[in-house]
Order: sequence, then structure tokens, then C-alpha cells
Amino acid sequence: MQKIIEILQEEISVAFEKAGYDKKYAKVTVSNRPDLCQYQCNGALAAAKEYHKAPIQMANEVVELLENSDTFLEITAQMPGFINMTVSPAFLSDYINKMSGEENFGCEKTKTEETIVIDYGGANVAKPLHVGHLRSAVIGESIKRISKYLGYHVIGDVHLGDWGLQIGLIITELKHRKPELVYFDENYEGEYPEEAPFTMADLEEIYPYASGYSKEHEDYKKEAQTATAELQAGRKGYLALWQHIIHVSVADLKKIYDKLNVSFDLWKKESDAQPYIPKMVQDMKDGGYAHIDDGALVVDVKEETDTKEIPPCMILKSNGATLYNTTDLATIVERRKLFDPQKIIYVVDKRQSLYFEQVFRCARKTKIIGSDVDLIFVGFGTMNGKDGKPFKTRDGGVLRLETLLADVTKQVEEKMAERDMDETARKDAAQKVGLAAIKYGDLSNQASKDYVFDIDRFTSFEGNTGPYILYTIVRIKSLMNKVAEQGIVVDENTPVLPAANKSQTDVMLALSKWSETVEAAFAEQAPHKICQFVYELSDAFNKFYHENKIVTNEDDTVRASHIQLSRLVGRVLETGIDLLGLEAPDKM
Ligand code: ARG
Repeated sequence: MQKIIEILQEEISVAFEKAGYDKKYAKVTVSNRPDLCQYQCNGALAAAKEYHKAPIQMANEVVELLENSDTFLEITAQMPGFINMTVSPAFLSDYINKMSGEENFGCEKTKTEETIVIDYGGANVAKPLHVGHLRSAVIGESIKRISKYLGYHVIGDVHLGDWGLQIGLIITELKHRKPELVYFDENYEGEYPEEAPFTMADLEEIYPYASGYSKEHEDYKKEAQTATAELQAGRKGYLALWQHIIHVSVADLKKIYDKLNVSFDLWKKESDAQPYIPKMVQDMKDGGYAHIDDGALVVDVKEETDTKEIPPCMILKSNGATLYNTTDLATIVERRKLFDPQKIIYVVDKRQSLYFEQVFRCARKTKIIGSDVDLIFVGFGTMNGKDGKPFKTRDGGVLRLETLLADVTKQVEEKMAERDMDETARKDAAQKVGLAAIKYGDLSNQASKDYVFDIDRFTSFEGNTGPYILYTIVRIKSLMNKVAEQGIVVDENTPVLPAANKSQTDVMLALSKWSETVEAAFAEQAPHKICQFVYELSDAFNKFYHENKIVTNEDDTVRASHIQLSRLVGRVLETGIDLLGLEAPDKM
């Protein structure tokens, strides 16, 4: 379905041509002075040079041709040559009615067969998920949902970190604590036990301990590095332990991601890409892309136009060990082979941006991918505490994601203590509202920016917050219940009437921006645009709700129209929050 801006663009183009001017100047934008008009065209200013005329004169000529158009309530030329437009209420309500009947509210699905891989989550096995992983999960999930909504074939991959030093550290610490375990007996030939020799709670204690200890004890660190190398070289007992670690961790991770309303199509791990490494390295050597530098195998990735130093991409260390780079490159090889994607989007902390620049350049230079594949890095900023430093617990530790969720839910529950709700409904609502507080607090910021995690602001039921959006949806739900209770039937095809006042216009205008919002959010990997949309729509709706009689309206046609409009707002808002990965309760 055409967007309003496109319809206006067409009309203005015709008028420009009729007036004798090139239509390339007829560009329409959303007004940057919403107090004066809804849309504007500044083309006459740009055209003045070519036609050697005063812009205001040209703007006037164009406006004159459109004065009788049904599209506009008002179209005027303003000094020095702006064309200001306000659409007519009938045009707007027609548009809204059409939108209401279309799939995706008129937002066009892609006609390409494009496959997109989204690499997000990025949790590491054996280490508990902490708030640093929150952003990747939350932003990636939303980008995935937006892409799916537009009809792309999307594969969300958690890309677990399962191949690094953390495993060697755990193996080493286990060996110190329980040397008698069969996993450490190199001569052991039998089957390994099915049951893991540790629980998730054990791992959560072991990893931080081992990590801390290794920082102070060089020997211990060497031992862990050796264990990692032995694992990677295929030592059987270590492989079995590693399998246990993965099992125990993944079960735990799934539970937490579930609570976050985040899900993955694929649970691939860094180790899954290892089989692709030998051939990849050989190809890099054969192609003359890689060379030995100080014993290590590297690929130069700097370019002449660089303004800052881009170091070479290291593929193999001098001892032959592979690196994070090597795995990421091999994962690209794997993804090409398995899914043939046209786009791979990485949702990772922006402190890894130089790293990804190296990886992307190396992948292109060594022909792992061609120009037909887009590699996109969506780097996000840090979640800070109120002190402006990376978010920590009160005692300065790293806060676990689960604890954070529980804390926020509790705070919301306390707020809702006075509500007349049964206990299960209150718990369910508190959970949904708490999650919305956290996720919306994150998503409403441009991803690349740092933001301050402010629990009091995020859980507020007023302002630009998740709970406020949910509250608006709940308000509409209860409005619809009232409609049903009173036996009022409003048919699906009941038209929304042209707006009779500003609050009605504002709701319709906000609604009409749905497709351009979703498209922009997709193109720029920018869920915050959806947040802005749902916030503006909620705000417009709440004003409309206060300033108009809806269920109590004396005029039956007006009442039906208002109910219909409210219902549409509810449907669009629910779709919007779904794209953000949120859910609304029935009551709150
Ligand atoms: N596991 C990594 C970390 O915790 C993030 C992985 C990001 N994705 C990737 N393909 N490198 O930092």
C-alpha cells in the first residue's frame, strides 16, 4: 500500500510538471514544524537556481494548481518558498480505513527471497549471562522480528562462545578439586558417565574462582591454556567434560532467554565452525592472501584510505592455535555453505567494532564472501549505572541477568500491590510489565549510544516507558470489554469517520506512519524507531481517549467510528510491541 508521503509526492510532482518545473524538485518530507503543517516540500528553493525565479513565485504556482485537490485541507506557499501541506480529514480517514483492512496494515512485504542471518545473544557457556549480554539479546531479537515481519527469511543464531579459555579454566579447576575423575585419566578407554560431575550452580562458582585465580597465578593460567589447547586438539576426556559443560549451560541459558522472551532459530556454537578452518587457512595461503609475520599467520587488511591504523588480521598464532578471528571467519564460511545468506547482521558490543572491521575486510579480501553478501555490524553502547559507569551491583559485582529481572519484577509488583487483581494475574502482569520496563528502556535508545539504567524511570507508568505503552494497550483492551459488556457490536468493516477535532486527527496521523516506520527500522537496524512510533501513537490515543466520548457517545455512527479507531490503535500497538519482543497483560 502506498504511503501517505508517496501519495503526496505524486500529486506534488504532477503539479511541478504542470507548472513547467522538473519533478525531481517535488520532494515531500514530514514537516519539521508540526505546529504549522503535517508535510512540506522545499523543492522550489532548490529549483530557483535552475529556473532563475523567486522560489516563492514558483511555490505559489504549484500551490495554485492544487488548491482544489481533495487531498488537502490546506496547502500554502510560505516565504521564502516552502510549500506547507495539511491533508484533509476525509483523505486521512480513507487512508486509515484502507490500512485497517490490509495485511500488515499496508506495510509491504519484501519481494526478494533474501536470507538474513542475525548473530546475537553471544552468550558464553559456563559463564552466567550477565547484563552485558542483555543488549545483544534484546536488540537482536527485535531486529529479527522486524525482518521476519517484512517477509525475509531470517535465521537468528545465538553463536555461543564454547571454545575459549573459559573451558580450559573450568577443566583445570575441576582437575585440582577432583583429580580422581575419569575424565583426567589419559589411559581411560571406557564410556564416560552420562551425568555431569557438576551443576550450573557449581559452574557459576567455579568459573569466577578459576578466572580470578589464574590472574594471580601464572602457572595455573598456563595449565588452563594447555588444557584449552588439549581440548581443541581432541583430548577425549576433555571433550567429554566440555560436552557436559555445554549441556548444563545451554539448559540454563534457554531458561533465561525464555524469560526474556528471546528465542533463536539456531543454537550454533563457535566450535561448530572449527571443521571449516583447515581448508579456509589453506585457501588463504594458496591465494597468497596470508603471510607469516613473526611466526604467526596474518592477513593484511589496511587500506590506503584508512585514517586510523587497522592492524592485520591474525589467523593462526605462532604455536598454531586459532583465535576468535579465525572462528568468526570460519563461521562465515559455514553460514555461506549452510544458508547462503545475502546479509549477516552482528549485534555485538561496539567495543568490538575494530575487530569486526578486520574480520569483514579479511573475509572480502580472501574471497570468503563476494560483493553479493552484506556484512553488517550493529554495535551497541554500554548500559551504565546512574553514576555513568558500566552497570554494577551495589557491592560492585557483575549483576546476573536473572537477578536483574527478579528485582525489576518485584519493584513492579510492589507498585501494583493496591490493584484489585487476583494473585496469578498480578504476578503475570508484573512479569510482563517488568520485562517491558527493561527491554523498552534499552530499545528506546539508539543502539549505538550508551544509556543509563534507571529502574525508577523505566518502571514508571508515565512518560516514554514500556509500562506506559502496555498501560495504553490494557486501557484499549478494557475499553473493548466495556463495549462487549454493553452489547455494542461494531462490525469489522465499520468505517472510521473523518476526524472532527485535533485529537482524532493526531491519532490517525500517528497510525498512518506505520509502514514507513517499520521499513526504516529494518533498513537502519533501528528498533528505537518502533519505540518512538508506539510512544507517539500511545500519547495521541490517550489524549483522544480523554477528550472524546467513546462508548458513551450519543451518536451511534460516531460511537462506532471511535470504537473502530480505538480497536485499530490496539491492533497496531500490539503488533508494534511484538516487534520489540514485549507482551501486554490483560490487566495491570
Ligand atoms: N561471545 C562473545 C562475547 O561474549 C560475543 C560473540 C559475538 N558474535 C560473534 N560472531 N563474534 O563477547
